[in-house]
Amino acid sequence: MYLRLGVTKQSCVFAVCQRAAAVLFCLLLSGLALAQTSLTPPLPSEIAEGGGIINPGGTKWAIALGKALFWDQQAGSDGNACASCHFHAGADTRLKNQLNPGFNDLTVGVTPGGEISVGGDTQFGSVLSDIGGVLPGFMPSYHQAGPNYVLQPDDFPMHLLSDETVRDSPIITTTNDRISSQGVVDATFNFVRVMGQEDSCKNYDGSVFHVNNFASRQVEPRNTPTVVNSGLFNRLFWDGRANNTFNGVGVFGMRDINANPNARLIMLDGSYNPTLTYLTLENGALASQSMGPPTNAVEMSCNGRTFADVGRKLLSTSPLALQKVSNTDSVLASLANPAGNGLRPQYSYAALIKKAFDPRWWSAKSAYRIVNGSLIYDGTGYSQMETNFSMFWGISIMLYEASLISNQSEYDTLLAKGHITIPRGPGGCAADSTVDPLLARGCQLFGSFGVGCLFCHGAPTFSEATSTAGVPFPPFITVTDINNHVDLRDNGFANIGIRPAFTDLQSGRVDAYNNPLSYGRQYKAYLAHGNDPSYLLDPFLQQAVAANKTGITLPFLKLEVDGSSKIPTLRNVALTPPYFSWGGYANLRQVMVLYNRGLSRRNVLDHGLGGFDAHGTSCSSGDDSGSGPDGDTPYANLVAGTQTDCNTNVTGVIRPLGLSDCDAPIGSAPLAVCVAQGVSDQTDDVAAIVRFLTSLTDPRVQCDAAPFDHPSLNVVDGNLSTDLNYYGKADDIIFNFPAVGARGFSKSSGYCIPNAGDLFAPGMQARSGGPRVTIH
Ligand code: HEC
Ligand code: HEC
Repeated sequence: MYLRLGVTKQSCVFAVCQRAAAVLFCLLLSGLALAQTSLTPPLPSEIAEGGGIINPGGTKWAIALGKALFWDQQAGSDGNACASCHFHAGADTRLKNQLNPGFNDLTVGVTPGGEISVGGDTQFGSVLSDIGGVLPGFMPSYHQAGPNYVLQPDDFPMHLLSDETVRDSPIITTTNDRISSQGVVDATFNFVRVMGQEDSCKNYDGSVFHVNNFASRQVEPRNTPTVVNSGLFNRLFWDGRANNTFNGVGVFGMRDINANPNARLIMLDGSYNPTLTYLTLENGALASQSMGPPTNAVEMSCNGRTFADVGRKLLSTSPLALQKVSNTDSVLASLANPAGNGLRPQYSYAALIKKAFDPRWWSAKSAYRIVNGSLIYDGTGYSQMETNFSMFWGISIMLYEASLISNQSEYDTLLAKGHITIPRGPGGCAADSTVDPLLARGCQLFGSFGVGCLFCHGAPTFSEATSTAGVPFPPFITVTDINNHVDLRDNGFANIGIRPAFTDLQSGRVDAYNNPLSYGRQYKAYLAHGNDPSYLLDPFLQQAVAANKTGITLPFLKLEVDGSSKIPTLRNVALTPPYFSWGGYANLRQVMVLYNRGLSRRNVLDHGLGGFDAHGTSCSSGDDSGSGPDGDTPYANLVAGTQTDCNTNVTGVIRPLGLSDCDAPIGSAPLAVCVAQGVSDQTDDVAAIVRFLTSLTDPRVQCDAAPFDHPSLNVVDGNLSTDLNYYGKADDIIFNFPAVGARGFSKSSGYCIPNAGDLFAPGMQARSGGPRVTIH
């Protein structure tokens, strides 16, 4: 029998939930200044102390464990920690070896569902030019594209038009390549070693990523989002595949449990007998997300390593053994080893797990294997603590990441002091005369109906995909068009027409078992099969449908799902270039030029709605961004010619905005309005919105003050063309990014991040070995 832990009576659940939230909230509050917005991540009620998972008094130990695990370079097969790709305001700004050739482009090759894997396009560089500007295989800067490439300012935007202000103008170059983060070298796993040494791996494969003849680190197919504030999202990853329900073993919630009888934990029952079980923790997306990278063959692992192997490796070394920990670290200070690296010997990973987690999850004495859904005693198997390592990893990293909330930006201060008010949805922003006029105007534009940013980037989180504790989150958003057709998309996800949907289906993709990720697509199948609940895979959706809380009042016609990405938060956005899930935009100015022209869908027919797209169902629009009239034409049907793709599922509010942009394109005259008012920042709408975006930066995130302080980290910045130890893989270029304590880096240290919104601003690569500048 499977237990649903901790759930007894409604009132009780509510009480423990409040307690769990309060514990975390107190931690968050300690030592903070006054001006802050309340942003409390919803967390599973079952992880309240004493609820059967976390020990009484265990939360603080779990947070310490989570922080150590997140930053520990011993976790990856060859030196990658979670932090290796999330060390710069929770994201990544490296320039060398950050190019992926387009693994998610199903127009070029098969892209497997589920977690990140090789597929799609494996050729780097430009794929098309209308005017013969950039040859195939080259970058916009005319350099040859390839692995280990160093990005140049002239490579952006990567979808380059003859006139950046007109989305239909001839294409100079475009590509399905993505800018992301380097992970592991492609190899097969042998075994883990003790004392945190690199794993033994074989068959190094450099067919896609290589330097000289040596295999080099693979790069992921989507840009790395920040982990700061990620606890506020209902689901995670750009495509939402990190399930809201945490099962203790995998990314996909109940989908893993239903499809794989071996995806189980070992729990001691009331008579201390080991039994197989799993968790069903709602609001557990952070924990679900953290199940992906450690065993993924692109991100952190040689192919074939299991979570129990990760456990075995980390249980046979000491936490952060290769890294420095500051003696003023906001979480780890009292555990840090004053004599050297890492934590004191008594704070091994096993010790931290025992302090944090209920003994029923780790105190069995035997060794086990889980085979065909049964628990087998096997002396060559794994201990209970190793087997359940995924659960300890997930819950402790979730608790650590949930503390990474930034709510002390310039904007939060203005808000707290009553100088600025902004609604959750569009309808204007009011700012008094004490506010910087450019910021005030930027806020007004951002919040206006005409510009419409707040439709999707709603305050206070600046993303519709988020919720705070206690606030219900509906699964869908519906929009009714002039023909009274209801279009439906997953709440928090939108296709804004950056690239054609088929170069990355995003939330239109499937999980590892071929089930749709999208709530909308599940709901459509449910309706199509006479309200058959077996088509609703996720407990979150099942509950919303059962309680009639879907937000749908009419039968809907079209799904806006394929190509829809999770709407990112805009907090700290000026610290985290490059932009969008494909990383093709280097600075916020480029992002705004893109929004101002209505992004990149082409050949759009105006349906007589003054630029608003009618979501028409006819085949006459010629739009080449979408995926068919009902928004879910499979690409295979297009290739087979059984269906045509002649319409869009780009969200209707995305259209040319007509904002004044006083940076006139080269060779053309500045806008009359800019000249009339004297060309200046004050007349430039685009500059005003960029100024507003920079007000969302929290200075603690800029300089890594608590809770954003951390151990040191060896940051890999591309590969050398040598293989000095004859492993078969190219040697790393490594920069040691120092540890920092609760007060953060000083502004003159060169490690604070400039609030510039520009990948090439001086100081943006300081954490990977680039020049360091003082910030002000
Ligand atoms: C090799 C680089 C790399 C490593 C290592 C890595 N990540 Fe990520 N992370 C990414 C990328 C790329 C994405 C986006 C992937 C996608 O959406 O498909 C991501 C997404 C995330 C997100 C989702 C954010 C959001 O808004 O949806 C979180 C949270 C996160 N990572 C945490 C972690 C944790 C925890 C670990 C360690 C277990 C980790 N990452 C390891 C690159 C990395
Ligand atoms: C229809 C919903 C929608 C509207 C309206 C919208 N956005 Fe976005 N925004 C998104 C989505 C979705 C993404 C991510 C797309 C991707 O990367 O695949 C995004 C990404 C961004 C990013 C990049 C963030 C990052 O971390 O890479 C910025 C900046 C941004 N939006 C600003 C704005 C501004 C300013 C406006 C108003 C002019 C606006 N957005 C209007 C949905 C929207």
